[in-house]
Amino acid sequence: MALIDVHGRKHDYLRISVTDRCNLRCVYCMGEEGIEQMSHSEILSYEDIIKVVEAGAELGISKIRLTGGEPLIRRGIVDLIGKIASVKGITDLSMTTNGILLPRYAESIKKAGLDRVNVSLDTLNPDQYHRITRCGELQQVLDGIEAALALDLQPVKLNTVLMKGINEHEIIDFIKLTLEKPLHVRFIEYMPIGDHDRDYRDHYLPLSFVEEQAEQAGLALTAVPLPGGAGPAESYTIPGSKGTIGLIHPISKHFCDTCNRLRLTAEGTLKACLYWQDEKPVRPVINDKKALQELIKDVLAGKPVEHQMAADGMCGSVDPGKMRGMSKTGG
Ligand code: 5AD
Ligand code: SF4
Repeated sequence: MALIDVHGRKHDYLRISVTDRCNLRCVYCMGEEGIEQMSHSEILSYEDIIKVVEAGAELGISKIRLTGGEPLIRRGIVDLIGKIASVKGITDLSMTTNGILLPRYAESIKKAGLDRVNVSLDTLNPDQYHRITRCGELQQVLDGIEAALALDLQPVKLNTVLMKGINEHEIIDFIKLTLEKPLHVRFIEYMPIGDHDRDYRDHYLPLSFVEEQAEQAGLALTAVPLPGGAGPAESYTIPGSKGTIGLIHPISKHFCDTCNRLRLTAEGTLKACLYWQDEKPVRPVINDKKALQELIKDVLAGKPVEHQMAADGMCGSVDPGKMRGMSKTGG
């Protein structure tokens, strides 16, 4: 069984946002006061999440990523990991986290069956980290990354959103991290998503800037296959280094033509595309596996060939305020 959309793309990947809440307040993700939070009853229960995973697995979903908000702040997350890991057909279970709680949880999530983590980290400077996240302690994330490496939650990928005037001078430091440690640093283009983004245009920087900086520093980026399976990144390494450098261009070179993912939002709606408003609630069909599977196929059938950002270009007409922020959709 395979989920193939009308554009011939095979879908085997489901990203699940388990909460819209977060213990940080990153400037590009949410306003200072955080987001308007959903109440507990609006958040899809673990029981229902499992039902979606089981229905999807029978249709060919084999990879699951847990996201948020911050997935590690939802109570019972370790049990959810255990349950998803034991669903037949799920062969790759990962999480995107800000890393703050990884020192505490790395061991138990690994034991429960999580394969690997992506950690969001945009700066290596403690003051700057505090400014970008509005409250975070850099050392906790660095300890979290070490814990993930030590416990083999690998490949450990870092997500680094490139922002003009904020972290562009740290590109080389991030690249150098890959020399010593098996880390996969992925630079992500700043996207016009969420409620925050009045200053989006001031901070957007195309990823060609990373290549230019590397070249100027005399670091030869050599193309390599992607670590740990496919993803929408171009991947490079510096000869002799332990890690890789990825460039994720949602805007300047969007990757819609190879997109293999569906998304389940924290409140229980299925989306076929991050940057598309269409979504369908799973609750009305949650106890009827066949109907749930029809819903999944239905959502896929409505998947656009490419997202609105790609269609409009970076300076297009999309109103970012209308799009759901990352904390609600999951990255
Ligand atoms: N642009 C680019 N990346 C973003 N993320 C959150 N908001 C944005 C944005 N506006 C990233 C986070 C995290 C991932 C889930 O999405 O840094 O790593
Ligand atoms: Fe939290 Fe991630 Fe949003 Fe930062 S980007 S506030 S870590 S959900």
